[in-house]
Amino acid sequence: MQIRIYDTPAQAGEAAALILAAQLIRRPDSVLGMATGSTPIPAYQALCRLYEAGLVDFSRATSFNLDEYIGIPEAHPCSYHRFMQEQLFSHVNLRPEAAHVPDGNAADLDAAARAYDEAIRAAGGIDVQILGIGRNGHIGFNEPGDEFVYGCHVVQLTPSTIEANKRFFDSEAEVPRQAISLGIGSIMNARQILLIATGEDKAQAVRDAVCGEVTPQLQASILRTHRDVLFLLDRGAASLLDRKGA
Ligand code: GLP
Repeated sequence: MQIRIYDTPAQAGEAAALILAAQLIRRPDSVLGMATGSTPIPAYQALCRLYEAGLVDFSRATSFNLDEYIGIPEAHPCSYHRFMQEQLFSHVNLRPEAAHVPDGNAADLDAAARAYDEAIRAAGGIDVQILGIGRNGHIGFNEPGDEFVYGCHVVQLTPSTIEANKRFFDSEAEVPRQAISLGIGSIMNARQILLIATGEDKAQAVRDAVCGEVTPQLQASILRTHRDVLFLLDRGAASLLDRKGA
């Protein structure tokens, strides 16, 4: 595992964008794993700038998002479909049919989850996976629990995640209680993982992921066992790391 610490969230995001851009320059048909939440927004803004500058081309790329809420329409202002359209997809030349987001409205959600993992396999696997981290250490929507779930699956959101995500909705009651998320196996199968964390409210989760035991109670802790994982942090998120230890 490697860690880079930047002065600002914008720099951490820009670093992630540069790595994604380099991947696309080297291999234009790359498969990118996308994340939502407020953390990756600076990375997407930087990617859009690199695209507008003519440095990066998405025309042969494929993307798979980590997760989606269950039971809200794709056009809902808080859906991850809509988020990705607004933050990235509508600004770059990624083909619409190559931009995948889990279907939170499928009639058979378990079948949709299995099909999503299969689509990733069929595309050749994820080359670079972007991740944020929840305050409770979740990645995607893999919540603290007794096990690491391997494949894409339906998740019950924890009160802590509902509380954290209510800021995007009109009220806590409107936050969906379920989501569909890539599993830990699906994430760990990515060839390279970039976890972006910014702000002091992520410092404890980052510390536990980097220095604590590997446990499903802190799902991000398993990332330490991945052979190519890079944490891109700002000073706030890194504030509980011991420089010598980390
Ligand atoms: C959400 C998403 C995660 C994201 C996390 C942190 O619940 N499912 O993929 O990493 O919350 O969000 P934020 O970046 O807004 O803090």
